[in-house]
Amino acid sequence: MCGIVGYVGKKQATPIILDALKRLEYRGYDSAGLAVLANGGIEVHKTEGKISDLEATLPDIKGLYGIGHTRWATQGAPNTINAHPHVSGNIAVVHNGIIENYQELYDELKGDGYEFVSETDTEVLAHLAHKYYKGNLVAAVIEGLKRVKGTYAAAFLCGDLNQVVAARKDSPLVAGIGNGENFIASDVTAFLKYTRNVVYMHDFELVSLSSKKIEFFDFDGNPIEESIESIEWNIEAAEKSGYPHFMLKEIHEQATSVHDTMLGRISELTGDVVLGEVKLSKEEIRKLERVVIIACGTSYNAGLLGKYLFEGLAGIHTDVDISSEFRYSNPVLGDSTLVISISQSGETADTIAATKEAKTYGCRTLAVTNVVGTTLSREVENIVYTRAGPEIGVAATKTFTSQLITLYLLAVHFARIRKKMDVDMSKRLLVSLKQLPGMIQQILNNRESIRKQAVRFSTARDYFFLGRSLNYPIALEGALKLKEISYIHAEGYAAGELKHGPLALISKDTPVVALATRASTYDKMLNNIKEVKARGAPVLAIAGMDDTEIGKYVDAVIRVPVTVELLYPVLSSVVVQLLAYYTADALGCPIDKPRNLAKSVTVE
Ligand code: M6R
Repeated sequence: MCGIVGYVGKKQATPIILDALKRLEYRGYDSAGLAVLANGGIEVHKTEGKISDLEATLPDIKGLYGIGHTRWATQGAPNTINAHPHVSGNIAVVHNGIIENYQELYDELKGDGYEFVSETDTEVLAHLAHKYYKGNLVAAVIEGLKRVKGTYAAAFLCGDLNQVVAARKDSPLVAGIGNGENFIASDVTAFLKYTRNVVYMHDFELVSLSSKKIEFFDFDGNPIEESIESIEWNIEAAEKSGYPHFMLKEIHEQATSVHDTMLGRISELTGDVVLGEVKLSKEEIRKLERVVIIACGTSYNAGLLGKYLFEGLAGIHTDVDISSEFRYSNPVLGDSTLVISISQSGETADTIAATKEAKTYGCRTLAVTNVVGTTLSREVENIVYTRAGPEIGVAATKTFTSQLITLYLLAVHFARIRKKMDVDMSKRLLVSLKQLPGMIQQILNNRESIRKQAVRFSTARDYFFLGRSLNYPIALEGALKLKEISYIHAEGYAAGELKHGPLALISKDTPVVALATRASTYDKMLNNIKEVKARGAPVLAIAGMDDTEIGKYVDAVIRVPVTVELLYPVLSSVVVQLLAYYTADALGCPIDKPRNLAKSVTVE
């Protein structure tokens, strides 16, 4: 995730900005840069790679005002040109977020005569500020940002003024108030060393910093009063925004990450999905006879849901294979097959090798990944980024739900083009998709009741997760999450398959998590619940808030908001993640770094 910082004060800005950027390194980044007010103008330096690479090339810049950036690429390759700051005339900008109406603004600014040098969406922010600048940077930034749809925390520096201006919408931005110096940053870790007095900014708020004063404005230019908070956390806790583990922080980021995955990709007006990254023509999409999804671990579980979606919505026969198996399976593939490789890291050796293998059969390729510029992205023709932001905990959480959202979007995109879904149905589904972030937040707000259930069953040695149809992949994912971080043996099972063997293991000592949200298979799921109850198993159901029946058959129910059948897997995912997290926490496990596991598995 990009990190932004800004400094104004009496000290040299460059070392403070570099130090602040280093504090944000944990967020992940691929390039870095800074702009400092010096020598009567702005000096900009940037580079791909590490902050230490930037530092090594910097001259001795004398200046007291500056902005800096670590970039996590979302639009445009991770290279020096695309690194921030971006400049227009004497205005420089650093930005964290996504500009949804980039193309429209780009066309307009091009028409105005502005030259674009990078592939980033951020460059429009620099040109907009320049276009509207008439000596007042606050007014120019407000006028420019009013034209922008999307998300941003952005900081601006102008060569004419001893001032830094920053504003936010849907991306974090915090101001730090020091003694004769002021700061802004994506999070407090950046400047905690210098001040503990902070203002957490809200959407559509702007801050103007000079060494003598710090002022806040709304987007009509009216001054606003902000309350100053004092931070008690140490640096380590601050990196996790006060959460005890990155995993819990990342679970909580899902209302935002799921929103970011959808951002600018849904047209409610036409009921279409807008995926400019997919280069396959409409004709090629219509001619697809088969999709083969290859992935490992959590990404494989996402792929299993993809099968239901591509078959159920777009009418394309779909197979899902574990990457390490696919390679040696003598697959039958051709040019009417689309191979979709799913990998959050884009560096999983098994998935990269399987993708290379698939290419030798002449099939079409597409990657669903979270990291720009990885080995996987260089192997495929089409890439759809999940935009979940960097994930630090080894257990995949927010990247999983963003993979699910990406698969919904792809399935609707294909279904519309293949005329398998009418506009009314796609509009209904897309509207429901857009409601998911709010529903995820409701589940997160209810985390205490999930924690209680997790603690209650945390002494179990074996656990079962049961689901049918769309819920089956989430049963697998729930079991994977639990065993990965709590070391409790857990099985994810298709509920109807239980009686073909594993029912022999069910007893009062095997808690069963039943994914029982409303579905065409709901009645059958109730029967499976009765089967395990009859063998003494304690049953914890995940069900909709409207389900008045389920409570009669189970020991406890965790409720999720009511949505359409197709989308419950996203909501249930958040519940199973929290269950796994709180179980591991109750057992005192090293949650972010489970034994024997690595975040990115780069060996076969
Ligand atoms: O980066 P990838 O999505 O390709 O990683 C695949 C698996 O290694 C990964 O999902 C793993 O199963 C996670 N640790 C699960 O939480």
